[in-house]
Amino acid sequence: MKIVRTVDEMKRTVAVYRDQKKQIGFVPTMGFLHEGHLSLMKEANKENDIVAASIFINPLQFGPNEDYERYPRDETADARAAENAGVDVLFIPDPTEIYPAPMQIQLGIKGRADVLCGRSRPGHFEGVLTVLTKLFHITSPDKVYFGLKDAQQVAVVDALINDLNFPIELVGLPTVRESDGLAKSSRNVNLSEHERHEAIWLYKGLAFGQKLIHDGEQTPNEIVQNVTELLNQNLSAGKIDYIELLSYPSLEPVSSVNQRVILAGAVYFAKARLIDNLIFDQD
Ligand code: PAJ
Repeated sequence: MKIVRTVDEMKRTVAVYRDQKKQIGFVPTMGFLHEGHLSLMKEANKENDIVAASIFINPLQFGPNEDYERYPRDETADARAAENAGVDVLFIPDPTEIYPAPMQIQLGIKGRADVLCGRSRPGHFEGVLTVLTKLFHITSPDKVYFGLKDAQQVAVVDALINDLNFPIELVGLPTVRESDGLAKSSRNVNLSEHERHEAIWLYKGLAFGQKLIHDGEQTPNEIVQNVTELLNQNLSAGKIDYIELLSYPSLEPVSSVNQRVILAGAVYFAKARLIDNLIFDQD
């Protein structure tokens, strides 16, 4: 596996693959890789000639009081894991490579970002759109791979690709979980032992909501209230940021659960904010 640190070298590397008519799959990440990231890389490896991945903790998508500074890093372990998962070229740029000067252009999104994480993290998805636009131009992929753990991000990237005519196919893959159901996340290492035990209730709460729907409950408010109550009963260290039920991928309010919906939640712990979701059709 080749490790590349500059935009110029990454562009030159990709140009060679393009000349050879290789199909390129791309997996953007912020590193501290776990099975969730690796599942994307492995799938990309199955479906493409070349797998490019990136590790870049994007300062633009973190708010002033968020965890940019303490976001976990382990480049050596990441490089080994990426190589084992079939990555051919790993792009690890410095922030100054990606943002050599303050941006003159600002990307924004209208719908899809004023709910869920977009509401709690103003500017977050604008930062994601900006870095992905840059990374897509730098790596020029045929297919890009994203995890549905960040389902709103998938919806936003879907809009980016369609609205701006990127010649790229978006692949969204299922959430990889710990054996007790907790969604794998680089941020889980920032949980205390007690918080780690509590964190499982985010998934349990969402699964409870899904069961209510399965058993016939149709009213979104009822479902959200029941899930909120169950979480409040079981969280002491954690605090709910949001529990929401929306259409997916349009992320609009629904009056009844008779279409594809997302039941999503976020919980604050002392040093980590965790998110999770379930996406399902009624049948
Ligand atoms: P990061 O949080 O590192 O995630 C990189 C990719 O891995 C995302 O597509 C995310 O949805 C996926 N992923 C994370 N945990 C997962 C899990 N448990 N199961 C399946 N997939 C999982 O998301 C970002 O980085 C950044 O916003 C980025 C897209 C790189 C832009 O900076």
